[in-house]
Amino acid sequence: MGNDFIPLKIAGVGYYVPETVITNEDLKKLYDTSDEWIYTRTGIKERRVVSGNETAIDLGYNAAKMALKNSGIDVKDIDCVIGAASAPPQIYPTLACLLQAKFGIPNHVPAFDLTAACTGLIYALQIARGFIGAGIYKNILIVAADNNSKITDWTDRGTSILFGDGAGAMVVTASDDGIDDILSIDISADGSIGQLIQTNMPQECCPLVKAADEVGTGKIIMNGKDVYKFAVSTVPSYVEKCIEKSGMTSQEIDYLIPHQANQRIIESIQNRLKYSDEKVISNIKYYGNTSAASIPIALAEGVEQGKIKLGSTAVLCGFGAGMTWGAAVVRLREGIVKL
Ligand code: UT7
Repeated sequence: MGNDFIPLKIAGVGYYVPETVITNEDLKKLYDTSDEWIYTRTGIKERRVVSGNETAIDLGYNAAKMALKNSGIDVKDIDCVIGAASAPPQIYPTLACLLQAKFGIPNHVPAFDLTAACTGLIYALQIARGFIGAGIYKNILIVAADNNSKITDWTDRGTSILFGDGAGAMVVTASDDGIDDILSIDISADGSIGQLIQTNMPQECCPLVKAADEVGTGKIIMNGKDVYKFAVSTVPSYVEKCIEKSGMTSQEIDYLIPHQANQRIIESIQNRLKYSDEKVISNIKYYGNTSAASIPIALAEGVEQGKIKLGSTAVLCGFGAGMTWGAAVVRLREGIVKL
């Protein structure tokens, strides 16, 4: 980076989850399963889902409102909106465009979504860092929101047990004190194993031409076993490398805030870093896997519950469809979540 790279400040974080709770016991009404099977394999007891007309847009709006309030930055000063969504209600207009309209953010402000599934928050943070660092935009609203429950195949007991709905948001800005809240960050991808998690659109060819062999269902199809193997073999050493790049040791970092996909995957990272339970933020038990929203939900809720003390540092890491993965060592300043 050049000498005139502008450092980034994480100014505010927010989250929102829908009210409706679906427990493991409830899932027994859909297929042959048990709370014991789900909990021991995943660490999940329940998840939240949207109902009726509620969508990821509503969840994202509420999370963004909280992040904006915590940041102290007026919505009229936001100059870029990035949506991180893999299961939004519409491909377009995007989550970011719909939120721009809902907040009354003016038209000269760009708004776009990126699709990096459960790594979306880290991808968005890296992009925001580039924009802020180069002086292109100053105050960026990042919103990670998904209504996974609407693209889940509720007849597939191997996949539908995992996912839940939720939203997280971050307001990032040009640092006014010269301190960079990103100590290190990296994003990666391997499309050659992309078939491990797919959502294929229900698209059909023009009726005047030969039909495609298959039409997508629009539902999540996942090879859980191979995703699991990928995650435990790739992510822990990758997180360690990201920590090395930050110039800190893993013991110097206060918290691990990982993507909440499976408690056993979280523990594989925890064991690699030799972290005690107090350093690891996990709320998968109550929310399942909320895609890109899971990191900011765990962060903001962790502060509210007293699990995270601010004025600290954390390593964030995500992985998911694409396949994509990413990690960041960040400073968590006082006030980014107000109690
Ligand atoms: O953001 C990334 C998102 N994805 C992930 O993180 C997924 C990572 N993978 C996983 O978490 C695990 O692979 C799962 C929890 C999804 C599945 O656990 P598993 O140990 O890989 O189970 P499996 O799919 O290999 O199934 C083992 C057995 C099968 O029975 P048989 O064939 O051995 O008789 C399944 O039919 O368990 C059966 N099974 C179930 N039984 C009760 C699968 N799902 C269920 C269920 N309840 N819900």
